[in-house]
Parts: sequence; C-alpha cells; structure tokens
Amino acid sequence: METKDFLKNFKGFSVQDFEDLTYAMIKPDAVSAKDEIIRDIESRGFSILFQHEYQFSKELAENFYSEHKGKGFYDRLVDQMTAGPVVVLILKKKGIIPCYQLWRDELGATNPANAIEGTLRNTYTQKLFGGPEAYAEGRATNCFHGADSIASVIRESNLVLYDIVMS
Ligand code: CMP
Repeated sequence: METKDFLKNFKGFSVQDFEDLTYAMIKPDAVSAKDEIIRDIESRGFSILFQHEYQFSKELAENFYSEHKGKGFYDRLVDQMTAGPVVVLILKKKGIIPCYQLWRDELGATNPANAIEGTLRNTYTQKLFGGPEAYAEGRATNCFHGADSIASVIRESNLVLYDIVMS
C-alpha cells in the first residue's frame, strides 16, 4: 500500500486499534536479510500492514531515540540507525495481550546474548554476525526494534510515517 493511502487509514485509528498493532523496524545491518525476515515475521502470525525501506536522517534518529539521550550507547545507536536504510514495519496481530508485547516476545531480550533460542534477535544475530558478541562489542545492532508500549506505538508510528510523507 502506498504511504499516503496507508496514512489516510492510519489517521482514523483509535487507541483500541493500536492494541492490535505495533511499530517495528529491521535495523540497517540486518536489511540484507529482509526477504527471509519478512517471511519469518509472517510465519509468526503477524500481518504486515505497512512496509517501507527508509533512510533515517540524524535528526529523525535522535528524535526517535530521544529518551536515551545522554546514555553511553546513544551516539553509537544514532550512527548505527543512520548507517543505511531501515525497513519500517507496522505489524498487526490480535491476541489477549497487546500486539507490541507479542512482538517483543518474538524479538527476545534487547541484548541478544540474553535472547532465548528461536527469538528473532537470537536467530538473526547468529545468522548475520555469527553470534551475539558483535552487539556486545558495538560492531552490530540487535537487528530489530519494537515499540515498548501502546503510547510508543502511537508516538513512533506518527513520527516516522509523517517524516516519510514529508520527505
Ligand atoms: P531498540 O529496541 O531499538 O530500543 C532502544 C535501543 O537502544 C535498543 O534497541 C538497543 O539498540 C539500544 N540499547 C538499549 N540499551 C542498551 C545498552 N545497555 N547498551 C547498548 N545499546 C542499548
């Protein structure tokens, strides 16, 4: 679906609708495996409502991750997220628990060294970087992002989709 068409629907979404949606990203250093990753995401029961490959500007990355400003990893995170295009995803899955949580369960822990086998971060840090050490050493990302609350789903999707439309 075209970004503008998706946005027309998106503007009408209620907070209730956002329970069944999440904002997700494939980070730049995992985009080379995007086709396999998208199939994997769908096999885990998520529908892809929106998919768009997009180059984050430094300003957008800083704004997106503003809650981490001042932390030791912030500058590296901004560099990693602007090193190449990300794949922006709006995912849908209905369940008893909100979609953002279902997605985070599939991702596994932020630090891939703590992500259990079968989770996306465990699987793709193994496949792409040979193991979770690359993240610990700052040579690689944890491959994926997932919003951490319904408020974050709304904030992050608005921020990025409007940046895409205005670009
Ligand atoms: P993400 O899901 O994109 O949300 C915030 C990001 O900050 C997170 O994934 C990691 O890439 C990064 N991050 C969070 N905590 C740490 C940490 N302790 N060390 C390095 N990077 C971190």
